[in-house]
Amino acid sequence: MGTGDTTAWRGAMVDELKASGAVRSQSVEEAMRQVPRERFLPTDLPPEDAYADRAVTLTQDGHGFPASTASQPTIVARMLEQLDARPGHRVLEIGTAGGYNAALLAHLADRVVSLEIDPALAERAARRLGPAVDVRAVDGADGAPDAAPFDRIQATVGVWGLPAAWFEQLTPGGRLVVPLWLRPGLEVSVAFERHGDVLRGLSCEPCAFLRLRGAHAGPDGYRPLGDGHFVTADFLDPSGTARLGRLLNEKPTVEEAVPGLARGWFPSLALADERALQIFSLHTGQASSGLYDQRAGALALIRDDRLFGYGDAALSAELRTRAQAAEPLDPADLQITARLADTSPRGSARWSLSRPPFQYDLQVREAAQ
Ligand SMILES: C[S@@+](CC[C@H](N)C(=O)[O-])C[C@H]1O[C@@H](n2cnc3c(N)ncnc32)[C@H](O)[C@@H]1O
Repeated sequence: MGTGDTTAWRGAMVDELKASGAVRSQSVEEAMRQVPRERFLPTDLPPEDAYADRAVTLTQDGHGFPASTASQPTIVARMLEQLDARPGHRVLEIGTAGGYNAALLAHLADRVVSLEIDPALAERAARRLGPAVDVRAVDGADGAPDAAPFDRIQATVGVWGLPAAWFEQLTPGGRLVVPLWLRPGLEVSVAFERHGDVLRGLSCEPCAFLRLRGAHAGPDGYRPLGDGHFVTADFLDPSGTARLGRLLNEKPTVEEAVPGLARGWFPSLALADERALQIFSLHTGQASSGLYDQRAGALALIRDDRLFGYGDAALSAELRTRAQAAEPLDPADLQITARLADTSPRGSARWSLSRPPFQYDLQVREAAQ
C-alpha cells in the first residue's frame, strides 16, 4: 500500500476525529494529516483497517492478551492534545510499539526519545522512524537520564503508580501525560503539570491501556482464573485468586435483576471500596463488576443489570443497595494531584490512593459538581 494511496483515508479519519472533538488543535490536526498510520502497522493491513478508529494488536502474551498495540486514533489524538507538545520541546515517550505516536511527536516537537521494552518492536520502529526519533530498547520506567530534562513526557502504556524517574526528568512547569490505573475499571489519561514536589492534574481522559511491564509493573493487571476468565483487583493474593476461580464455578446463590442502575455506578464504588473487582470473559468479551470478600469467600457481581451472588448472600444485598445508591462518576471530571508521599496534602481530597513514592489525592472538579 503506497503512502500516496492513503491520503484520502487519512483525511477522512482526521475529519471524524475533529468532529468528535478528539482533535482540537491545528498542530495535532496537521501532524495526523501528514503521518501515514499504515507505515507503523503490520504490512498486510488494508487501508480500511489502518484508518478505522480501532487499536491494532502488534504482539500477544502467553494468555492471548495483546502485549503491544497501535493505540486507537481517538485516544492518540486526545492524549496529544493533553500533552501540548510544541516546537522547541524535548519529549520523552514510553511505549514506542509500532512508532505511530512517536512519528506524530516528531512532527510536533524538536527532540523525541522513545523507549520500548520489547527489543524486536524497538528495532522495527527505529527502522521505520529513522533519525527523527531516538528509539531505545530499555525499560521505560527509568526514563532517559542522559537526555533529560524533558519539557513533555508521555507514557502510552498504563501505570499503577508513577515511577520517580519520570517526575525527576520533567522540567519545572513541564507536562506529563500518563494513563493511570486508579482502580479496577477506572483508568484515565491524566495530564499533570509539575509544580515543585507536586504534579497538578490539568485534565483526565477515560482510556484503557496495556499495563507497564518490567521492574516497575506493580500488581498484575489481569490475573487468569481459568476457563477464559480474568480478574482485575488491587488486593488479591494467590489463595484469594484460587478461591475466586472456584467460587465462579459454583452455582450462584443469588441471581436477580437490578434494574435502573445509573451509568458510571461502578467507578465511585471502586474508589471507595478496596474489595471492588472486575471479571472479564475472553469467550463473551463481557465484564462483570462487583465486590469480593476474600476472607468470607463471598462474591457479588453485576453484569448487564443482573446480580449474581456466590457464597454468603449478604454481600449481594450490600452490592445491590450500594450500586443503586452510587453517585455516577464521569472519570473525565476527576481532579487528581500526585505528590511525594512524605509531603502534606494541598487542599481536601475525597479519595486517596497510596502508591509509593507518590500519594494521589482525588476529587471531582468543582465545575462538574
Ligand atoms: C499501547 S502500546 C503503545 C502505543 C504506541 N505508542 C502507538 O504509537 O500506538 C504500549 C507499548 O508499551 C510497551 N511497554 C510495556 N512496558 C514497557 C516498559 N516498561 N518500558 C517501555 N515500553 C513498555 C509495550 O511493549 C507496548 O509496545
